[in-house]
Amino acid sequence: MIKPVKGFSKLSKQEKVSWIVSSFFKDNASAEALIKRYWNDDEVLQQLHDEFIENTITNYYLPFGVAPNFLINEKLYTIPMAIEESSVVAAASKAAKFWFDRGGFKAEVVSTTKVGQVHFMFSGDKVKLNTFFNFVKPILIEDSKHITKNMTKRGGGIKSIDLVDKTNDLENYYQLHCCFETLDAMGANFINSSLEQFAKTFKTSAKSYSLFSTEESDIEIVMSILSNYVPDCIVRAEVSCPVSELNEDEGVAPNEFADKFVRAVQIAKVEPYRAVTHNKGIMNGVDAVVLATGNDFRAVEAGVHAYASRNGSYSSLTNASVEKGIFKFWIELPLALGTVGGLTNLHPLVKLALEMLGRPSAKELMKIIAVAGLAQNFGALRSLTTTGIQKGHMKMHLMNILNQMGATADEKIQIASFFNGKTVVHSDVVEKFNQLRAL
Ligand code: MEV
Repeated sequence: MIKPVKGFSKLSKQEKVSWIVSSFFKDNASAEALIKRYWNDDEVLQQLHDEFIENTITNYYLPFGVAPNFLINEKLYTIPMAIEESSVVAAASKAAKFWFDRGGFKAEVVSTTKVGQVHFMFSGDKVKLNTFFNFVKPILIEDSKHITKNMTKRGGGIKSIDLVDKTNDLENYYQLHCCFETLDAMGANFINSSLEQFAKTFKTSAKSYSLFSTEESDIEIVMSILSNYVPDCIVRAEVSCPVSELNEDEGVAPNEFADKFVRAVQIAKVEPYRAVTHNKGIMNGVDAVVLATGNDFRAVEAGVHAYASRNGSYSSLTNASVEKGIFKFWIELPLALGTVGGLTNLHPLVKLALEMLGRPSAKELMKIIAVAGLAQNFGALRSLTTTGIQKGHMKMHLMNILNQMGATADEKIQIASFFNGKTVVHSDVVEKFNQLRAL
């Protein structure tokens, strides 16, 4: 049995690697060689990556792909995507081209408010707490000026601070519910620093507030933290065209396609099992761009799924309609993003991705990412309601299967050509591969 390791973070990188390979691998040399094969030759660049987190032993590659031909509000984008799933970039590119020919995507930012809360416990008189809050609110703002002044100068900062009584949900529980505008920054550090300052001022001021009894003046601050639920940081993207123009697939009449597509969205509206997968497909597009642009995909995921459940049941993020011969398909989702600060100033590939997008503002990036999600969902629903998903998916997955089996370049060409136009099934690929090898 492996013993707990002491002071691991203090070891040198080589010492960490040595401990890992000797503790967990039979073939130490190969494990060490593999870990090191992913080190970057450029030592400065490697050190940058090492220092993003603690205990880095190597780098973990994801493909960085691009989906060109995205026409969004009349501007053409090539969208960078970091993702391992075979068919995602291909589906995005196909949807981009499809909608390019039909006027492109329209997108707008509906709102950009971010939220943070100071959670605290107070067991005294509610009326006195309210009076204290009105007294202390300007002091909270004043005391946090050293944190907020630059953001305020640029047009952002604190938008509101409210006292919220949550005692019906949990005894003695209140919060300061605070709204912020963080402009082009994701703003996590800005919000959390502001909240921690509010908490400090709130607690200290309570201590000397003359209307409070000794017990009341001892407010218990539980925690101060931003919320990743951002239902007021919303972006909307849409596509539309006459139904008659949904004519790409010769096997399906445009009106049949439109009706079935709308039905598929309606199903995802009312059926949570389907909605989760439907939204997962949307997040294939969203997360890939969020990652490529150095944003926090866990934050986005958490916020998006909470939003998808806002009416009490998990539901589709997209909507579709056919009215007066016009097919319309749209998405509305919360996205708290940054295009300055954090990884955006540090990771060279993130900088490259942002430059490829023309150095977008956070609002512009919200639109691009919403479009990537909508395009992905369009691609998935188009396949699901016509050919089935496996045809396109397995076509893209074919290379993974062949690589797993150690196919040579020539074998890959022969097998890919054999499956051209056919639906790829794993066992058929294995059989074809074995046949080729047996020759
Ligand atoms: C696979 O990653 C995503 C899909 O399942 C999405 C969907 O079903 O809508 C194809």
